[in-house]
Amino acid sequence: MAQSQSNRRVLVLPGDGIGPEIMHEALRVVHFFDRRHIASFDIAEDLVGGAAYDAYGTPLRDATLLKALASDAVLFGSVGGPKWEKLPFELWPERGLLRLRKEMALFANLRPAVVFDALAEASSLKRELVAGLDLVIVRELTGGIYFGEPRGIETLADGSRRGINTEVYDESEIERVVRVACELARKRDGRVCEVDKANVMESGGLWREVAQRVRDTEYPDIELSFMYADNCAMQLVRNPKQFDVIVTGNLFGDILSDCAAMLTGSLGMLPSASLGEADATGRRRALYEPVHGSAPDIAGKNLANPLACILSLAMMLRYSFDMGEEADLVENAVRRTLAAGVRTNDIAGSGMRGVSTREMGDAVLRELEHLV
Ligand code: IPM
Ligand code: MG
Repeated sequence: MAQSQSNRRVLVLPGDGIGPEIMHEALRVVHFFDRRHIASFDIAEDLVGGAAYDAYGTPLRDATLLKALASDAVLFGSVGGPKWEKLPFELWPERGLLRLRKEMALFANLRPAVVFDALAEASSLKRELVAGLDLVIVRELTGGIYFGEPRGIETLADGSRRGINTEVYDESEIERVVRVACELARKRDGRVCEVDKANVMESGGLWREVAQRVRDTEYPDIELSFMYADNCAMQLVRNPKQFDVIVTGNLFGDILSDCAAMLTGSLGMLPSASLGEADATGRRRALYEPVHGSAPDIAGKNLANPLACILSLAMMLRYSFDMGEEADLVENAVRRTLAAGVRTNDIAGSGMRGVSTREMGDAVLRELEHLV
């Protein structure tokens, strides 16, 4: 018996480059749940990024933003590409994503880096360094230098130009993201490492102070440590298993999460969840997206790895719809697919030819069929 009208409203924004291809495979998982009467979703789709610019002259229409604000979750593909790099800055595809994050107030970006056993060989690091790795980067997503004022390019008296961006964090912005990290750590190994450049930046010193206060007053059970961002980059490739939860600002989080992604074998494996503050009913605004970008070089070729997008869908089930079992199911299907040796090019060994995007989707669906 099919479930009646779903109250799970999901806005799907495939975006540019490989976005539509990988999203197509993730949506097959959604359709599978529907077909098997496991769960149904109310899916709406819209354009974002360069695709929205081409159709409407803007990377994010107000109407799309309103739909995002009214939905329970947004599933996002990727944006950007050389086609739009000549546009004025405010029309770049990336502005669409940044505006969504800001207007939806998605301040906490969870980027788990988990190494699937079958992929430990695919990492550029030695197997023993990454096998069993399971860390999460909690990246602040609506503040810092990404949004700080003043910003821009100004012309000086002598006619030369100056580029300006500002790193700025209020205590409240630090507090709320540190809380998310501590809550998460409670369900894991209970350890949070706060990462900054307090040796150079005053704002980093404030991060330390606030993180320590939040820990002492609200999370005395959590073990809090501090690390400079440059050292953290090094530690991630030297001994990544020392970390449980890393919490950091927007820019360091951007950089460190790409680094953490490669530990797992490929950028094509890493999902993410961007969450807002919970309201009185416990509902949070949320957007789920793969950490990788739009990969214009392989777009439209049926070569992209859809697993990060499929795993982002699993995060949506877990965090927005409290469907932990179903999320486990999707993650197990991915694990079994990898264990069976199915590889797209990005995770195939050198000299091995990987399967297509579509074939990877087929394989995950087959495993799902086995598991339910
Ligand atoms: C990410 C991306 C984005 C960012 C870009 C596409 C704006 O690199 O989500 O990590 O810098 O936040
Ligand atoms: Mg990035």
